[in-house]
Amino acid sequence: MEESTPKTFHVLSSSQFDRAFLDYMCLLTDTIRRFDKSKEGLLYLKGLLAHRRAMLYFTQPSTRTFLSFQTACQIVGMGTNEIRDSSTSSERKGESIEDSLQTFSSYVDIIIMRTPVPGLCDRIAAILNETHRPIPIINAGSGPDEHPTQALLDIYTLNRSFVKLGGIDGKTIMMVGDLKRGRTIRSLSGLLANYRDVKIIFVSPPEFRIQDDLRQKLLARKIRFEETDQFEDSLRIADAVYMTRVQDEYDKDGESQKVDSRRFHLKATHLPLMKSSAVIMHPLPRREELDIAIDQDPRAKYWRQERNGMWTRVALLTKIFGVDQKIVLPEL
Ligand code: NCD
Repeated sequence: MEESTPKTFHVLSSSQFDRAFLDYMCLLTDTIRRFDKSKEGLLYLKGLLAHRRAMLYFTQPSTRTFLSFQTACQIVGMGTNEIRDSSTSSERKGESIEDSLQTFSSYVDIIIMRTPVPGLCDRIAAILNETHRPIPIINAGSGPDEHPTQALLDIYTLNRSFVKLGGIDGKTIMMVGDLKRGRTIRSLSGLLANYRDVKIIFVSPPEFRIQDDLRQKLLARKIRFEETDQFEDSLRIADAVYMTRVQDEYDKDGESQKVDSRRFHLKATHLPLMKSSAVIMHPLPRREELDIAIDQDPRAKYWRQERNGMWTRVALLTKIFGVDQKIVLPEL
């Protein structure tokens, strides 16, 4: 990159964020959502980025991330274009994905992308950095690799849940399920490394243990963690239980079906084992790993996570485009 080129604010990996940024984003998100309480507040937000346009390029299935980003764009007044199926674009005519994305960058001010290809967002960001229009890229999920904006909303949800309990520092976070291919747990673990005395308990069948690159990263960052298949023992000590589904879309040969995950399913009968102050989270969509009977328990936070996701993404857009300064922060 030329020295004179201003640095574009891409969101590619949770490892790019530090504690100061996370604290700032939590406060910014809390402040922005207060604008939701009045028509005047919402009209003010709508004016913030009415001069900007976003491209939503989602070539892997998505409900929450797509809708929350699209709605976040609407809240700050941004226009949106979308591609949800690469077979409807010139990729079908043999255009490379790199060329397609460079084309989109001619029409919009930011590209928010979800792709099955790990590392693609980084590659596109690097290509755009070399062009005369280096617009920001947001990684909205890149294969089994990263999902940094989910991690931001998860941190926001944890922070809000523990506000009267001293915040995230010192907490024990249990992550359950397909830890091998779950991008949400990869990105969230990276962010938790920014907090003091956090302990992560990774609970899974042996086939779904975390990958070695994540293990090495956590060791290098000196975060305390444990890998176990002791589901019930872990439930008793966890401050947060983060459930995830089996990511069988990445199976090569139906191998997930051979794994017995049943004893890692959270049932209503487990609730009495858990701390009364604990929180239950899930990035959703859920399957049988999270009993619907749990939805009524006050510790269930996954529906709030969804709404928190929308406001976290509003905050992120204002930060990326430098209009976060127009949101008055209460106590900085
Ligand atoms: C997650 C994802 O896409 O990685 N969903 C989401 O973005 N909320 C989790 C999943 O699909 O299991």
